[in-house]
Amino acid sequence: MDMRYTPTQEAANWAETLIHSRRTTLPKRLVGPGPDPGQRQKILSAAAAAPDHDQILPWRLVEITTEQRPHLAQAFCAALLERDPQATADEQQMARDKAYRSPWLLLAVLQKALPGHDVPDAERLISAGAAIQNMLLQATAMGLGSGLTSGKALQSAAIRQLFRLRDHEEAVCFVSIGHIAEERRPRPRPAIDAFFSRL
Ligand SMILES: Cc1cc2nc3c(=O)[nH]c(=O)nc-3n(C[C@H](O)[C@H](O)[C@H](O)COP(=O)(O)O)c2cc1C
Repeated sequence: MDMRYTPTQEAANWAETLIHSRRTTLPKRLVGPGPDPGQRQKILSAAAAAPDHDQILPWRLVEITTEQRPHLAQAFCAALLERDPQATADEQQMARDKAYRSPWLLLAVLQKALPGHDVPDAERLISAGAAIQNMLLQATAMGLGSGLTSGKALQSAAIRQLFRLRDHEEAVCFVSIGHIAEERRPRPRPAIDAFFSRL
């Protein structure tokens, strides 16, 4: 998509507001409907606008459709039992429930460097992170809530099998997008001094 941006003060102010008003809404505070097909298209296109050294596309996104949620629930439960074979029935149910919370649920998968590949894992992860942030900002711009979740299940054999991850692939996080049921207080942001210095 070839879009040109004409800088204006109004547009700059708008972008600043958008960036600073993005905040996490965790899946349990999201409700349906998820984004409509047009919105999904825009959110996915936003991911494609991320920086990508050598255009290698070192990440991919997998939507977990409604029909597949029971399989994800099963994988979450299996992942829990991999870590803790003594997990109670309640704990297993809680693990299963997590599969159903998010109206639109995607898994972000990183493709790590194989021998002979020039672009190192750190750059690949930055590209994935930029793609994800683009999606979060696009969702925010459309009035949708969004959040990232991870957790130990992502490293489990059950999740790796369900998503058919190849040896050099890693599940990075889930991206959840939907309507906001309950707004959270904004998180205090770090002061610039905390991350910026001059050489
Ligand atoms: C890759 C990634 C995974 C995350 N996973 C979780 C998670 O599983 N649970 C959680 O409560 N927060 C998680 N977070 C943190 C929140 O998404 C959020 O960024 C943080 O609470 C700060 O809030 P804000 O996004 O509103 O500034 C994750 C963040 C990142 C970058």
